[in-house]
Amino acid sequence: MENTIRSLQQEIIDFEIGSPAELEAFRLRYTVRKGLIAGLFGQLKSVEPAEKPRIGQLLNQLKQTAEAKCAEAEERFSSGEKDRVSLIDLTLPGRRYFTGSEHPVQKVLGEMKRIFSDMGFGIATGPELELDRYNFDMLNFPPDHPARDMQDTFFITREKDGDDVLLRTHTSPVQIRVMLDSEPPIRVICPGKVYRNEAISARSFCVFHQLEGLYIDRKVSFADLKATIYSFARQMFGTDVKLRFRPSFFPFTEPSAEVDVTCYLCGGKGCRVCKKSGWLEIMGCGMVHPNVLRNCGIDPETWSGYAFGMGVDRTVLLRYKIDDIRLLFENDVRMLKQFPA
Ligand code: PHE
Repeated sequence: MENTIRSLQQEIIDFEIGSPAELEAFRLRYTVRKGLIAGLFGQLKSVEPAEKPRIGQLLNQLKQTAEAKCAEAEERFSSGEKDRVSLIDLTLPGRRYFTGSEHPVQKVLGEMKRIFSDMGFGIATGPELELDRYNFDMLNFPPDHPARDMQDTFFITREKDGDDVLLRTHTSPVQIRVMLDSEPPIRVICPGKVYRNEAISARSFCVFHQLEGLYIDRKVSFADLKATIYSFARQMFGTDVKLRFRPSFFPFTEPSAEVDVTCYLCGGKGCRVCKKSGWLEIMGCGMVHPNVLRNCGIDPETWSGYAFGMGVDRTVLLRYKIDDIRLLFENDVRMLKQFPA
């Protein structure tokens, strides 16, 4: 009898009650009126009288162990239930989710991409950490040409022979990458971030966005360039926009021009934004320099092309009446929330 009690005691201690169903199984086996413990109490009368008090005590202990275990499990399950109920307040309003929205720069870039893709341009991208070779050398910048200083460059490592690593100062190195990687005819735009070590103010920041265009084919002329820019400008800024091409210089285009559009805030009459001139500069452009074509293994006798590079951020500022370019780069949600999808 004593052995039976002890082994049952061990069994009860080892029994894991992990769910209300297991608690019920435990009760049915040990503590109900027809359970094992009650059965042992029934056998107590056949125990020798001298042994009765000791065995009786052991049995009582067994019963207490089982009952305590039941009580503990009951408490565990019912208190869990209580907590869960008190956590749910069905009168609370639902949780509001703020879905993100497209950044104003991406909105404008998206529109520019759509206009050019309608004209048959594909999209190419390149790294922001760029080799001097692609950012300058192959774009026909002579080694000590002052044009390198025009674009205050952030250098990352100083090597030699065009292997310097820098933050690209314009998207034009993507032109080189595309020409090295593919055969003409080529018709791509290259949108992306560029970096310049400039004094930071409401009007200029060390990072900004450009959208480059490159078109290489047989017999491409400046007239093709003009027609493309006109078509773009009318879709982007309105059908009555006028353009002005001013002669300019870039080492990688010849001839080169800068393009102005009539100020779309004052309609060309002159205002604070266009500094009373009636014009806003939107891009640099020109015919791809034969040296650049040659650097990329393209024969300038057979192929010709144009390229353009436009700033994106100023259009964003004007379109959304934002008065400080730095706001475009701070990612302050209070600002971004004002441009819902
Ligand atoms: N890369 C020039 C700049 O950043 C713009 C440009 C691109 C000019 C392509 C001509 C052709 O100022």
